[in-house]
Amino acid sequence: ADVEDIFYHCAKVLLRESFWNDKDVIITGGGTIEKIDDVRCLTNFSSGKQASALALAYFLKGARVCLITSGESPATKAIECLHVKSTDELLKELLNKISTIDATSNGAYLVMAAAVSDYLPSIQHKGKLKKEALGENYTLELKQNIDVLSSIPRSKTLKIIGFKAEMDAEKAHEHAKAMLIKKALDAVCLNIITEENGFGSDKNRIDFITKEKTISLPLSNKESIARTIVELSAPL
Ligand code: CTP
Repeated sequence: ADVEDIFYHCAKVLLRESFWNDKDVIITGGGTIEKIDDVRCLTNFSSGKQASALALAYFLKGARVCLITSGESPATKAIECLHVKSTDELLKELLNKISTIDATSNGAYLVMAAAVSDYLPSIQHKGKLKKEALGENYTLELKQNIDVLSSIPRSKTLKIIGFKAEMDAEKAHEHAKAMLIKKALDAVCLNIITEENGFGSDKNRIDFITKEKTISLPLSNKESIARTIVELSAPL
């Protein structure tokens, strides 16, 4: 085995907690990639670092973890990782994973950190669009994307945590609380984006919001934020 894998296995033995034993945790991460044609795409700046840090934090506590991501892979091969690009691929892998864990699980969590595109091209062109054919101005028509979180079948044993990235600090909490209700979530991790914790940064600042309370996690590295989210998600 690789040195990293031996290290993380030993760390897991030292850090695991009985609560997470036989619990399944699915984490999604990274930005979705939607094709415009066979060489161009529509995506966003999400790196998948927070999702990868979450995968490791849940793994070290003893959970069975599956990371579904278009971004950064987990730190150890002991964590199952499914690489996806488009929303369709993400949804397919997610539904498949949920269907396999339902029967045997001692409780499951879905942490939806992926930055799923709200819109995608109405038409995916085959081959490469040529500017001779498109002309001086080219308008790309978009349609609203399917909402992955709203497409997940709800069950009492599956706890769901959504992520919300906001730039308007004044309205951020109101929007996050509205999403908690609208998408029937157990918690929302609100990330108010500033220069210090923008997309791709190694740091993050999160407000962990449930129906009952809001807990603010100060600016910190993504590994430390991940460990706190694991602790806060246990009693959901
Ligand atoms: N999400 C999803 N499917 C989508 C879009 C988002 O499942 N098509 C999930 C994300 O993974 C995240 C949460 O929903 O957990 C974000 O919700 P959303 O309402 O899309 O937040 P914003 O994109 O910030 O909303 P808006 O663009 O309206 O500000």
